[in-house]
Amino acid sequence: MAELSIKRHRRLRYNPLVRDMVRETILQKNDLIYPLFVVPGENIKNPVKSMPGVFQLSIDNLVLECKEVAALGIPAVILFGIPEHKDEVGSEAYAENGIIQRAIRAIKKDVPNLLVITDVCMCEYTSHGHCGVLQGEDILNDETVTLLAKEAVSHAEAGADMIAPSDMMDGRIYAIRKALDYKGYSKIPIMSYAAKYASGYYGPFRDAAESTPAFGDRRSHQMDIANSNEAIREVETDIQEGADIVMVKPAGPYLDIIYRVKEKFGLPTAAYQVSGEYAMIKAAALNGWIDGERVMIESLTSIKRAGADMILTYFAKEVAAFIDKNRK
Ligand code: PBG
Ligand code: ZN
Repeated sequence: MAELSIKRHRRLRYNPLVRDMVRETILQKNDLIYPLFVVPGENIKNPVKSMPGVFQLSIDNLVLECKEVAALGIPAVILFGIPEHKDEVGSEAYAENGIIQRAIRAIKKDVPNLLVITDVCMCEYTSHGHCGVLQGEDILNDETVTLLAKEAVSHAEAGADMIAPSDMMDGRIYAIRKALDYKGYSKIPIMSYAAKYASGYYGPFRDAAESTPAFGDRRSHQMDIANSNEAIREVETDIQEGADIVMVKPAGPYLDIIYRVKEKFGLPTAAYQVSGEYAMIKAAALNGWIDGERVMIESLTSIKRAGADMILTYFAKEVAAFIDKNRK
């Protein structure tokens, strides 16, 4: 029998060079997707109060921001639009000259190498703030899916590189894939918000996107926070319907879901570090209660360690700057 000896795990921790050699998870710029909020008007840069460092931008400023993002080496942005007019059926979501459609064209013209992903949902565009068409207080699933497919096609027509449906209606991936293919956009990938939870962490986003529901909540379509097997069924369905990339959202509080999804399906997996996750870290850092940079990197490294291949994060610019500072 082998002699008992102390296992000296610390051997690999004394020297920083050795620590660098054995590190298993490393954040890269290619992992990052930066969310941006577009508003009508000119020369607008409204700070979002609950998200320090995040702004609502008019298209001119959005393009400048995208130039900066691309120069930092961040490969992709995801766009959210706040329309001029909201109505019952969210018409501006699929209007040829809607806010997002104009934003996409402006970015693709001036920053052609930046990947433009678009969030597809109705809640920013409906007067009631719900993610679809209502009958009484119910969101009609199939009628909404028809409009989501229209919205996705209009984004593709404007030049979007990737479509990201965030609505959680049933059958939307199938409908969107079919509509994109029919219109000649079979090369455009779909990043599905596949396991999206009904989360309290979306609060600050609803300020930024002005999309708080006028009554009720999103529990009739977003997932119950307590469920894990259901996430597997949601993701499986989206893959069967044609999703190319599957997303788990939020990220930090749902690392177990990211892990299960990546282990089971092995598909490119995205995670959304949402507004509330960002706001909490920022708030504590601004109070001097935590080291903000350190916790930023720790939170994102944890998300990647759990299995995410890419992360949507409001920290993207700060992370890119951090990588430049530390890896020269
Ligand atoms: C719209 C949408 C939401 C987020 C992304 N797309 C909000 C919601 O479902 O209410 C949240 C993103 C964040 O909190 O950063 N369906
Ligand atoms: Zn929505």
